[in-house]
Amino acid sequence: MKTRNKLINGAAFINGEEFIGKKTFDVVNPATGEAIVSVADLGLKDIERAINSAEEAWPSWRTTPIAERSAILKRWHDLMIKHTDEIAEIMTVESGKPLEESKIEVTYGASFVSWFAEESYRTYGDQIPSPTADKQIVVLRQPVGVCAAITPWNFPLAMVTRKVAPALAAGCTVVLKPASQTPLTAIAVAHLALAAGLPKGVFNVVTGKDAEGIGKLLATNDKIRKISFTGSTAVGKTLMQHAASTVKKISLELGGNAPFIVFDDADIEAAVKGAIAAKFRNAGQTCVAVNRFLVQEGVYDQFAERITEAVNQLKVGNGLEKGVKVGPVINQKGLEKVENHVKDAIEKGASVLTGGKHKNALFFEPTVLGDIPLEAKIAKEETFGPVVSLFRFKTEDEAVALANSTEYGLAAYFYSDNVKRCWRVAQALEAGMVGINEGAISTAVAPFGGIKESGIGREGSKYGIDEYMEIKYLCFGL
Ligand code: SIN
Repeated sequence: MKTRNKLINGAAFINGEEFIGKKTFDVVNPATGEAIVSVADLGLKDIERAINSAEEAWPSWRTTPIAERSAILKRWHDLMIKHTDEIAEIMTVESGKPLEESKIEVTYGASFVSWFAEESYRTYGDQIPSPTADKQIVVLRQPVGVCAAITPWNFPLAMVTRKVAPALAAGCTVVLKPASQTPLTAIAVAHLALAAGLPKGVFNVVTGKDAEGIGKLLATNDKIRKISFTGSTAVGKTLMQHAASTVKKISLELGGNAPFIVFDDADIEAAVKGAIAAKFRNAGQTCVAVNRFLVQEGVYDQFAERITEAVNQLKVGNGLEKGVKVGPVINQKGLEKVENHVKDAIEKGASVLTGGKHKNALFFEPTVLGDIPLEAKIAKEETFGPVVSLFRFKTEDEAVALANSTEYGLAAYFYSDNVKRCWRVAQALEAGMVGINEGAISTAVAPFGGIKESGIGREGSKYGIDEYMEIKYLCFGL
């Protein structure tokens, strides 16, 4: 790809230096099929070198004064904002998401850095009143040590900063393995971190195609004390098993099957707006994307009609083109899953209200399917594509039971203008995050994470830094 974007770079980033090695792989633009750049395909020995450099950098980074660590993070944030256009372009060409969304992600991703730059000052310990006069009890919070982060392709920046910023703020060092589909954003921001003054070895980026082998190494290596992963539940379970071998601290942000309930007493226009926000961000490829729209029978037809009209307005195309709202899905496997879910729902009796077909290359028509039977795959599995699936229900109890009838528990949404119902349903839903009359819930200041098979731990917010800290109890004899 011909570009003047100076932040595009295919070298891995170890100990503050670029490293290519003998093997490379191409990162491909999902909108065009065109190779963007060749990226280092590291072997396990190279990954070990990155781990060693993070380990060597740790003693000095953990003792760097908080004011200095925080100032570096703030400069890193400012550099990301300054380079918004270049980072957004990289994100769009490697992930396919519309440029407008990529720019929003730069602000969102950078906000984790400024947030945790501030939170580093608030890693308070405690003094606990002793039950006896001969002791003083004090609690310290200390950095965990070397951390590994494995991040997905759907948010090439925000998932990186949501892990790396709290780790660095806590005084940990990091080895990051970004998704092989979208490593370029991570490499670009690692260079900006160095430019912001981050010492060599504190933040390393390792790239490679062997996701399984690299994941296993990061999860089993005894120099790494913490692993944080965002991705599928299946891979999360495997990493958890590997991490058990050295009893590592672990955070997992895994799959979802988010319900979006529209009650008879909802503001339908607001619900349609929230539905588009919660469904079509990144062409439906987010863990918090709505997978099942549960609509009460009194407003079902009205909601179905209005959401179909709204979906028909969405322009599909290459994310670099003006006005595009829905880009391609990430790869052939992703496309096949969407096609398979839609075909299965139609075969089982769903009606197609709009779309329903593969357009071309990796593009799928924004789709609305009505009256889907509960046996359809789309009711149970995460589709990760631009498909609105409508299910009808009669009572509040039925809606809550349907919403909770999944092994996942990441996000849930519902619309109602009845305040008592809002409290009741919010408490009854089995999810780590609930949007009430709101479809856009993500922010650096709130705890992001799931329950059940959607994960362990929280990212962002005042809770996010705890994942990178240990509690140490000191007992002073007097
Ligand atoms: C995700 O899809 O995993 C992250 C979505 C978000 O941060 O909003």
